[in-house]
Amino acid sequence: MILVVIFGGNYKMTNSRGLNVVVEEVKNYLCFLAENGCTGFDCKKKSLETIECWGRDRAFIPETLEKIRADIGDCRCCKLSNSRKNIVFGAGSPKASLVFVGEGPGFEEDKTGEPFVGAAGKLLTKIIQAIKLAREQVYICNIIKCRPPGNRNPEPDEIKACFPFLERQIATLKPDFICALGTFAAQILLDTKEPISKLRGRFHDYKGIKLLPTYHPAYLLRSPDKKKDVWEDMKKLMNEMEK
Ligand code: URA
Repeated sequence: MILVVIFGGNYKMTNSRGLNVVVEEVKNYLCFLAENGCTGFDCKKKSLETIECWGRDRAFIPETLEKIRADIGDCRCCKLSNSRKNIVFGAGSPKASLVFVGEGPGFEEDKTGEPFVGAAGKLLTKIIQAIKLAREQVYICNIIKCRPPGNRNPEPDEIKACFPFLERQIATLKPDFICALGTFAAQILLDTKEPISKLRGRFHDYKGIKLLPTYHPAYLLRSPDKKKDVWEDMKKLMNEMEK
């Protein structure tokens, strides 16, 4: 007796890899039956191709920021999860043409779950307003999503665990511009060891997106004389965005 498995219209599989495996197994089983002389079912090449399409069509779940956040869940991928209060996912418009990327959450961000809300964040808000935008019109996020204890620099294993989520966020947002805030964000996004003083002030390429590194607002709070350099960078950004 031949058992034929029929996939109904309501077939549910949240994991696309799992669905592809099932489709592949059904296809292989039908081939096996055909090769062994079993009859009474449709195993033509065209039908097998149709089965493959079911897998592809149904497995296609569009990426959204909500899905990425759901995938992060109560992330335990690195040791920062032991000390963090909140995951700081990112905030702003999902349609933003400009994305700001900082280093990682500080005390206030860890407390609230929102990026750039402390002293450096207030300065960033002013920088955004100076380029005639509002925080709600841009997207703000960080290389890592959990606060390192005592605001130490993120460690390589922490970046390795967290960076893929940011890559997915950027791929979903598809911004025209990224402004990398500070050494750390610029070096990680551009995969370089060049200092920020050499990287800032000109556009670089990040996967086809124009990336402008500039000094981190926290650095500006310590070195206000660098504000004029950031203003020069922001004027370049405005000019380019107006083109
Ligand atoms: N510094 C950062 O790099 N990111 C924040 O969210 C806050 C401060």
